[in-house]
Amino acid sequence: MVIKPPTKENIVMIPFMAQGHIIPFLALALRIEKTNKYTITFVNTPSNIKNLRSSLPSNSSIHLLEIPFNSSDHELPPHTENTDSVPYDLVPKLFEASLSFKPHFRNLISKLFQDENEHKRPLCIISSMFFGWCAEIAHEFGLFHAIFVAGGGFGFACYYSLWLNLPHSNSDSDEFELPDFPEASTLHVTQMSDTLRAADGSDSFSVFVKKVFPLWVKADAILVNTVEEFDKTGLNYFRRKIGRPVWPVGPVLFSSGNKARAGKEFGLSQEICKNWLDKKPSCSVLYVSFGSQNTISSSQMMQLAMALEACGKNFIWVVRPPIGFDINSEFKANEWLPEGFEERIRDSGRGLVVHTWAPQVEILSHESLSAFLSHCGWNSVLESLSRGVPMIGWPMAAEQFYNVKLLEEKIGVCVEVARGKNCEIFHEEIVAKIELVMNESEKGKEMRKKAWEIKEIINNATKDEENFKGSSMEAMDQFLNAASKLRGEDKGEIDGAPLSVHEEKSCICIN
Ligand SMILES: *[C@@H]1O[C@H](CO)[C@@H](O)[C@H](O)[C@H]1NC(C)=O
Ligand SMILES: *[C@@H]1O[C@H](CO)[C@@H](O)[C@H](O)[C@H]1NC(C)=O
Ligand SMILES: *[C@@H]1O[C@H](CO)[C@@H](O)[C@H](O)[C@H]1NC(C)=O
Ligand SMILES: *[C@@H]1O[C@H](CO)[C@@H](O)[C@H](O)[C@H]1NC(C)=O
Repeated sequence: MVIKPPTKENIVMIPFMAQGHIIPFLALALRIEKTNKYTITFVNTPSNIKNLRSSLPSNSSIHLLEIPFNSSDHELPPHTENTDSVPYDLVPKLFEASLSFKPHFRNLISKLFQDENEHKRPLCIISSMFFGWCAEIAHEFGLFHAIFVAGGGFGFACYYSLWLNLPHSNSDSDEFELPDFPEASTLHVTQMSDTLRAADGSDSFSVFVKKVFPLWVKADAILVNTVEEFDKTGLNYFRRKIGRPVWPVGPVLFSSGNKARAGKEFGLSQEICKNWLDKKPSCSVLYVSFGSQNTISSSQMMQLAMALEACGKNFIWVVRPPIGFDINSEFKANEWLPEGFEERIRDSGRGLVVHTWAPQVEILSHESLSAFLSHCGWNSVLESLSRGVPMIGWPMAAEQFYNVKLLEEKIGVCVEVARGKNCEIFHEEIVAKIELVMNESEKGKEMRKKAWEIKEIINNATKDEENFKGSSMEAMDQFLNAASKLRGEDKGEIDGAPLSVHEEKSCICIN
């Protein structure tokens, strides 16, 4: 007797076209794939899909599907389909262009229903926070719709509230509170990106955000790449605001990046890195990296180099060309660093200066690591916390400022050293913060202890054992059950034809 394996149902995922969004979505896709109960269809524009093909693990069966997109039709340079490749001042056009996906995406969902392969029949849609319009399409076809927030709860609660309310635009003071999120306490105008600070409601990003953020109330659930135990305040903000289940399923992290990046010419190989770290005493090394998309001004870079030299600590520093130069161009040490810096550092054996890329997860996992000086983008934060490494925060863009606020004020695993890409900073101030965290001071010890506790909390949250399921695994189960339940209720009525049943139900839930 041949037993036909049960049909796997399809989860359709569509992230925004930015590496900081695509990578966590991919990590979530791989996590769901591991349950062995679902197929995954990953949707994006042609060039992003092309890049994804090379970063998918070879044993993955995730389907990649293109949504038609021609950047030239949206006043963007040819083949610019990712915030990586779009010139900074044209990024709002990329956001605006994403609104054109809606009819194409509807068409794509409709086609999946008609596909002969029943494993492709959609069960639910997980979309970017900027694609709230997916709810309408999901509900037309009787599907569950979840928004996946690839960042943290607190950080994005502040970001969401700031962009919708612009509280600073009608305040004379440099400090203000968020009208619908008083738990966040006081914010300062320096804790905002230049774009947000200049926003008055009529600027292009404000206009875009007002079109897409209010649509969150139409979603069936919000998934957040975080952990309930240390990020409750932000999660509760969305629970109150959206009135839908908000499920923290994190950290979902993408670990096979090495494969895609191993070929990089100036990168630091894992072996060299490990050998170097192996020779350092435990808890003695500072890791400095602002991620692949951020850099600092040339004067800030000079001060940071002086600080690293003056503080006498071991360090690994991933440097990128300063602001004003192509971030992917060759690094010119003799122009951008103090004279002879790299030679002195190399000869003393005290530091590694890495151009372009370093194996971040391996570095953070090494026992000789002590602290991470970071822009506090959420992926870096999660990688650091998962390894129990305290942070020195230098936020630069988007919600990074509020990530630092959460880490410093509410969790106690971070001190902020500077804000933004243009602030004036002196090396003495940087040295003081490095010593505060890395020396055997009370504060340093307390931060390391706290970071270790958070690591334990994360371990627990992602545990999936016979008699113990962590909060993030529980949240993931609740989400998948809710999605299947909706399908169960609608069974028999889906035959390629759009449903109207859900319409009524979705109205009841909106409050
Ligand atoms: C693919 O391989 C990785 C690493 O061995 C493993 O963790 C993952 O579960 C595998 N995925 C599938 C879908 O088999
Ligand atoms: C995109 O549009 C431009 C201008 O209309 C056209 O020249 C080009 O061939 C199109 N590219 C693709 C890939 O269709
Ligand atoms: C930190 O430790 C270094 C090396 O032991 C020492 O020179 C420095 O004064 C200490 N800084 C503080 C703030 O304690
Ligand atoms: C982790 O879970 C165990 C139970 O499995 C519990 O005893 C322990 O206190 C938890 N640790 C943290 C840090 O929550």
